Amino acid sequence: MSELSVNHLLGIKYLNKKDIQLIFETADHFKEVINRPIKKVPSLRDITIANLFFENSTRTKLSFELAEKRLSADVINFSASQSSVKKGETLIDTVNNILSMKVDMVVMRHPNPGAGVFLSQHIDASIINAGDGAHEHPTQALLDCYSIRERLGEIKGKHVVIVGDILHSRVALSNIYALQLLGAKVMVCGPKTLLPKYIEDLGVKVETDLRKALNWCDVANMLRVQNERMDMSYFPSTREYTKLYGVNKSLLNSLDKEITIMHPGPINRGVEITSEVADSNQAIILDQVENGVAIRMAVIYLLASKIKH
Ligand code: CP
Repeated sequence: MSELSVNHLLGIKYLNKKDIQLIFETADHFKEVINRPIKKVPSLRDITIANLFFENSTRTKLSFELAEKRLSADVINFSASQSSVKKGETLIDTVNNILSMKVDMVVMRHPNPGAGVFLSQHIDASIINAGDGAHEHPTQALLDCYSIRERLGEIKGKHVVIVGDILHSRVALSNIYALQLLGAKVMVCGPKTLLPKYIEDLGVKVETDLRKALNWCDVANMLRVQNERMDMSYFPSTREYTKLYGVNKSLLNSLDKEITIMHPGPINRGVEITSEVADSNQAIILDQVENGVAIRMAVIYLLASKIKH
């Protein structure tokens, strides 16, 4: 039987192409399961999973919890804002207390880059990174690539542009790694102030003109401006940002081909994308959310199969 090359999902950086293909094949099976009248399998009745969220989340938190429940795992949820972290407890103490309750797997979102890697070196449980600061968001990239494959048939050779706040985005880095492993050509597009200095070292094309980027691509993944990670002003005004880097229907209609529009959410309607585009058939935003459950079921199932009781 095939298995993942890793015991944790800390980032796409640690995966190889076969790992991603195995996750996609397993997700295909679970996607069929979650479209049945009874959307549940008994696979993980012996596994307990803790969801530790030290940062806000809607999609990722609910999607992981649903994936775990669809696999029949026992689930406990932890939110930093309602916990003893507020009383000064450290990350390792918090997690070790949770693990004493016989937890096998930890899904963690944390504001600090590398938090998942750090934890994996100190505790005896399988770790899934649900987003670590501006570093990686591996399950988002997996569900994004899976959704491109679903819409366009394959990823190899496709042109994908990631538009917006690349500097503060964990979605961008994980997508760049995953898309390149799967043979896509990747471009980033945004104002120079929101493009990291080292970005060309990752082998991506760089463009500051949105129209040129959209004319080049098959898929545009629109990112939100992450104001919560900004300590200074990166562009003169939201109005100007939208004028230069927002997609609207008339811009898309003026291109000589129909491209696929993606967004990881949460959307700032009217800033990086208009409602007309977000709610159109050209956008696969809700398909991404639907596929997130199957992808997370696959990741959890494959990692759980490596846990030795
Ligand atoms: N895409 C994403 O990570 O959304 P949430 O922050 O709501 O989980």
